[in-house]
Amino acid sequence: MKFDILTLFPNMFSSPFQESILGKAIEKGMIQIRTINIRDFALDKHQVVDDTPYGGGQGMVMKVEPIARAIEWVKSQDPSAWTIYLTPQGKPFRQEMALSLSSKSHLLLLCGRYEGVDERARELFVDEEISIGDYVLTGGELAAMVIIDAVSRLLPGVLGSDRSAEEDSFVHSLLEYPQYTRPFNFRGSGVPEVLLSGNHSAISLWRRKEALKRTSIRRPDLLDKAHLSSEDGKLLEQILQKISTDD
Ligand code: 6GU
Repeated sequence: MKFDILTLFPNMFSSPFQESILGKAIEKGMIQIRTINIRDFALDKHQVVDDTPYGGGQGMVMKVEPIARAIEWVKSQDPSAWTIYLTPQGKPFRQEMALSLSSKSHLLLLCGRYEGVDERARELFVDEEISIGDYVLTGGELAAMVIIDAVSRLLPGVLGSDRSAEEDSFVHSLLEYPQYTRPFNFRGSGVPEVLLSGNHSAISLWRRKEALKRTSIRRPDLLDKAHLSSEDGKLLEQILQKISTDD
């Protein structure tokens, strides 16, 4: 899968993709990430990429021509590239969106800065607008990294064969159960006995219950979407009862 990033700050992307899982995915050719400096597509000799807003007001607006030329340059190489503009005004990014983007062959991520891009750039060149949450960042670059990470790990072969993206939180709409590893005793704090029992069905049941407990405490909104079995329903009842009697 190909990712092209249109940005005024290509250096921001130099190290995040060199490490760990994405670094390996790039090495193995499973993903290709390229940064494109919008400034290189400016028309004037000073390579101006922003200007004051028509109608006045604070800040600067990213000019349409350099963005248009940069996108057209990428599209001339691959007309199928899917263009995403990263903006707090976009659709909130979710796991299902990561999954649907992972079936595209080429994403073109346009990173906004300042007060955003000229509206005509959005209208004429952008297929989809995405936000990564309800807070304001200084630009779309970090959001582009988040999307590339979330999408890449869903591609076949990117996670090791022992790791399945299908088991993740949010796929089944539950948070993950707690994990432990050695030592057994850390400063007096132990590990739930069931995990040492070797009883796989007891371990599965404990994990399911902990996942349900954690989700009902931290993210009750997720439970409405989760596909719960009647067994889950019973576990949840026990959990909620215990929580109310503990209070
Ligand atoms: Cl995509 N851009 C900016 N500037 N801020 C954000 C965002 C994007 N998503 C959440 N906050």
